Amino acid sequence: MTTITPKGGIALSKRKLSSPTTLLGPVPSALVSCGRAGGEKNIITLAWVGVVNSSPPMASISIRPSRHSHGIIKETGEFVINIPTADQVLVADRCGTVSGKKVDKFRQFNLTAIQGTLEHAPLIEECPLNLECRVRQTILLGSHEMFLGQVEQVYLSGQLLNGRGRIGAHPEWLGYLGGQYFSVKSLGLSLGYSLK
Ligand SMILES: Cc1cc2nc3c(=O)[nH]c(=O)nc-3n(C[C@H](O)[C@H](O)[C@H](O)COP(=O)(O)O)c2cc1C
Repeated sequence: MTTITPKGGIALSKRKLSSPTTLLGPVPSALVSCGRAGGEKNIITLAWVGVVNSSPPMASISIRPSRHSHGIIKETGEFVINIPTADQVLVADRCGTVSGKKVDKFRQFNLTAIQGTLEHAPLIEECPLNLECRVRQTILLGSHEMFLGQVEQVYLSGQLLNGRGRIGAHPEWLGYLGGQYFSVKSLGLSLGYSLK
């Protein structure tokens, strides 16, 4: 590690890491579900998930081509981003350490697949927030291929909805940063609260 010393000569409290990494977060540790004709369904845990556009609403996921889910999503052009709560960390870790090549993760981890509006990719009922996405573009970046998906429908557990059909309550969400899991809580402050 190198200490950064600015021109004035005062040592900052910052230290530079030995190499650049994707140490950005906490990001959601999402359970991404997919499926193909014939009934096969799968789940992959992904931390490389992001919001990339507002209108139309779009999200990205990045997957190594060696993953079983990669082939399914490439073939069908559909995926669902299911956001788990912190108390679902065990299932997120399990879905991210075994492959659908060998295991039916829905059955093995007692998860319920429900059909939304996509033809092949089911929602995971146990996750309170689900975004159905259709692939619009893919970019092979290096280790991972990024799928840019247009969010076609969003589902939220009823107890989290407010009277205006929007998210009104927050559980502790599952986050991920630097190889560690986090519990991400709401501060109960809304955007613009500082202006009031
Ligand atoms: C917390 C966590 C985050 C992960 N993030 C990613 C990711 O962003 N991209 C990826 O390709 N694999 C990621 N993985 C690894 C896959 O989830 C793992 O290899 C999985 O077993 C692949 O499943 P599949 O072969 O059924 O598709 C992650 C695993 C964990 C536990």
